[in-house]
Amino acid sequence: MKRPIIAIDGPAAAGKSTVAKKVAEKLGYIYIDTGAMYRAVAWKALKENVPITDHARITALANRMDIRFEKTNGEQRVIVDGEDVTEEIRTPEASRLSSAVSAIKGVRKRLAELQRKIGETGGVVMEGRDIGTVIFPNAEVKVFLTASAEERARRRAGQLREIGIDADVAEVAREISERDLRDSSRSEAPLKQAPDAVLIETDSLSIDEVVEKIIALHNERLASQTADPGSTT
Ligand code: DC
Repeated sequence: MKRPIIAIDGPAAAGKSTVAKKVAEKLGYIYIDTGAMYRAVAWKALKENVPITDHARITALANRMDIRFEKTNGEQRVIVDGEDVTEEIRTPEASRLSSAVSAIKGVRKRLAELQRKIGETGGVVMEGRDIGTVIFPNAEVKVFLTASAEERARRRAGQLREIGIDADVAEVAREISERDLRDSSRSEAPLKQAPDAVLIETDSLSIDEVVEKIIALHNERLASQTADPGSTT
């Protein structure tokens, strides 16, 4: 039997990466951060001085880029054309640009192909904005993770400080809300909750509590598949 796909979507800084990583670790599944792929394209566009308005060049760039996830000392690293860009893709500039890049149709097409290829065999936890709606609408487990704007800004500012970026919570809050607005109002695969996704509001939950909820959803799903292997619902 094919192992499940767990799709985790939600707005910026809702804790998707932290939670998805832990769920994948516990289940022995592959973890895929699709936001890192959009960030990688943004980083490359910045590096090559391609203006964001030049969609054809940015799409061409995305089409020829090699994006890999590699594990080094238990940590997932993002490698673009042989270069480790794990930290560089997290700067506020790359964040802003990644949202603009993700609205380009050709870029989404290319990254969607890669994401489906990585995930099609199952046993994967994939996080992003459109995983349960567009990439894997038949994913066995779908979660929409969110938290209040204040909580998300506080968490993201903390993460930025950890990688040495001095972040002001109010400024981070502004950046996040601009990005959410752009991500949810674009015409291509906008951020939205899939009708069959389970909503988890994380303000008052610990990371482990969220992880346990998702593992429970996964186990329920596996049990129902075992009981009725022909079922597609
Ligand atoms: O998850 P993140 O904040 O690292 O994602 C960076 C940007 O990429 C985000 O602003 C929207 C975009 N994105 C997307 O459009 N679709 C995805 N599946 C993942 C990310």
